[in-house]
Amino acid sequence: MLKAVVHADWTIGTINRNIYGHFAEHLGRCIYEGIWVGEDSEIPNTEGFRNDVIEALRELKIPVLRWPGGCFADEYHWRDGIGPKENRKMMINTHWGGVVENNHFGTHEFFRLCELIDAEPYICGNVGSGTVSEMADWIEYMTSDADSPMANLRRANGRDKPWKLKYFGVGNENWGCGGNMLPEFYADLYNQFQTYARNYGDNKLYKIAGGANTDDYRWTEVLMKKSERHMHGLSLHYYTVPGTWQDKGAATEFGERDWFVTMKKATYMDELLTRHSTEMDRYDPNKRVGIIVDEWGNWFNVEPGTNPGFLYQQNTMRDALVAAVNLHIFHKHCNRVQMANIAQMVNVLQAVILTEGSKMLRTPTYHVLQMYNVHQDAEALAVHGEFGQYGFEGEEGSLAQVGVTASKKDGVVHVSLYNVNPTEATDIEVELRGSEGSISYEGTILAASDIRAHNTFNQTNAVAPQPFNGAELKGGKLKVSLPAASVVVLKLK
Ligand code: AHR
Repeated sequence: MLKAVVHADWTIGTINRNIYGHFAEHLGRCIYEGIWVGEDSEIPNTEGFRNDVIEALRELKIPVLRWPGGCFADEYHWRDGIGPKENRKMMINTHWGGVVENNHFGTHEFFRLCELIDAEPYICGNVGSGTVSEMADWIEYMTSDADSPMANLRRANGRDKPWKLKYFGVGNENWGCGGNMLPEFYADLYNQFQTYARNYGDNKLYKIAGGANTDDYRWTEVLMKKSERHMHGLSLHYYTVPGTWQDKGAATEFGERDWFVTMKKATYMDELLTRHSTEMDRYDPNKRVGIIVDEWGNWFNVEPGTNPGFLYQQNTMRDALVAAVNLHIFHKHCNRVQMANIAQMVNVLQAVILTEGSKMLRTPTYHVLQMYNVHQDAEALAVHGEFGQYGFEGEEGSLAQVGVTASKKDGVVHVSLYNVNPTEATDIEVELRGSEGSISYEGTILAASDIRAHNTFNQTNAVAPQPFNGAELKGGKLKVSLPAASVVVLKLK
């Protein structure tokens, strides 16, 4: 039988709650329709924000929200998104479908959204097509309480007190859509732009430099060498794409081979974090600079018949498992990974919520993030054991069949487990070492009879968490039965 030893008295670091962060870009139906419908909409809303989505997001306990992009950030000009809506300048969203953006959702609306869902704001500034003074003015506009031009402009637009803003990104994917730069050039620009990203009053910015594309370790090396002392965080983007960028594979029509390849590619995040972090250790051995994985998740072909520039995809049990795999990896690297933002929050890529008109559904990914939010700000515990192997005939390699991660907060231990094998159930013996007394548990499971199972607007609860009773206590250890393709969270008592 597979075995896991959870060491209740051996912590490996703190799981920053921001690992459970999200990302919302002006892309497709994420902001418009998905979150913002405007005050005059027939969809029930509060100040233009749809009530159903806000309620679901609040329940998820989202710690931090990144906005306005993504690629959109490097062509966003913040002044277009303030003041009376009827006067706001329109623009073409050239990255995402070439649609006209009316800028009705801007800085004030973003901060209000963060208040409504109780998340910390994370803003990404424009380096690719913006200027140093434009970025500096935006920060003054948002965070200064002085009798100054930008603070007074904010007051004129109805907001007297400055907002609190900690997380600020200096550009996005500047190796690609954010300017096609070489790392040396971007590092120089980063140093210049961040100089004028000022701390006003007691507002202290946590400055995040634009990081590497996937396995571009040289980018990390150059950024650390030239800019380490000017940054608090360095971002990393990695998407799980089962096929190629030209044909990524369908979100709901897939077989076991695609499942295996997707899981294997998802686990690549572990190697990426190890290697980028090792590169960073050369300049920052004490791990002062955090890795900010501010875009991660599955990227499939868009749903047939939808705008290719809107990146709308369904979300199945495969997404649930990929979410769990990534969260386990982030927990493992919690000494270096200080934030991660799933892409994206609503209607785009591996979304937690999908909408269609006035209808809304929670995806399997939503449920995993909700089940796992017990780990936010908890101490990650060391886990050792035998986790089995899962492979697929004809495909290279294999991966651990079972994933186990554990944490402790306020004396309570949570153990989360997944079984990545889509056809075979398995048992695993869980021993809690370093803790007094016997164990009992309460549990929740997410599983389905079909790996393609997903929620639809007619059947919103086809995949939903259920109470878990599949563990029994034997000789002071828990024997946990994990169905095929399942995710379980246990609260040990
Ligand atoms: O999340 C979609 C896009 O993926 C983002 O805009 C960009 O940063 C990345 O390439």
